[in-house]
Amino acid sequence: MLLPLGSADLDEAAALFADPRVMVHVDGGTRDRATTSRLLQANERCWKNEGWGLWAIRDATSGAFIGQGGLQRITELQDADVEFSAIIGWRNWRKGIATEAGKAIVYDAWERFTGSQIHALVHPDSAAGGPFLRRIGFRRNDDQLVRGEMLKVWHTQRLG
Ligand SMILES: CC(C)(COP(=O)(O)OP(=O)(O)OC[C@H]1O[C@@H](n2cnc3c(N)ncnc32)[C@H](O)[C@@H]1OP(=O)(O)O)[C@@H](O)C(=O)NCCC(=O)NCCS
Repeated sequence: MLLPLGSADLDEAAALFADPRVMVHVDGGTRDRATTSRLLQANERCWKNEGWGLWAIRDATSGAFIGQGGLQRITELQDADVEFSAIIGWRNWRKGIATEAGKAIVYDAWERFTGSQIHALVHPDSAAGGPFLRRIGFRRNDDQLVRGEMLKVWHTQRLG
């Protein structure tokens, strides 16, 4: 299930973002608890002001925290407004969870977000990011230098 990610998720999100097995694939690497706390607070403001943001991905039966995914405002990428991302806890990789959650998040995002394109960035060390994004309907653009690193840029666009 998807629930807006917020400060109540701090313990679980901090554990996910502190795991180098996962975060080596994400630009910026591991995040400490204070950084995660600021991110969650910013995400709560985003939900309030924009009506969209990052979701906590939880097991529908147990409620266990599996990961996070959704939209964030992006300013560092040319011709882009929002960035989609998904990060799944290492134990749950390769079970189809990101595909299921990612499709639901992007489908729902077109109802919440008025723009015509959603972008995504993949770190060069992420083997999974590209195939995952292609699977949920994204297409590859030219790489761009973002936050000091050459990242793979992907986008998907509103139909019709
Ligand atoms: C990318 C990520 C979200 C995928 O999560 P997941 O739940 O394991 O993904 P799924 O099980 O739904 O797999 C979807 C597809 O992604 C690709 N994929 C997943 N893991 C992969 C890996 N280790 N190597 C290559 N491709 C991989 C495959 O095409 C897979 O489909 P398949 O299993 O039928 O071959 C997860 O690996 C992750 O959190 N990585 C770190 C953060 C990141 O790189 N995010 C992507 C940027 S948006």
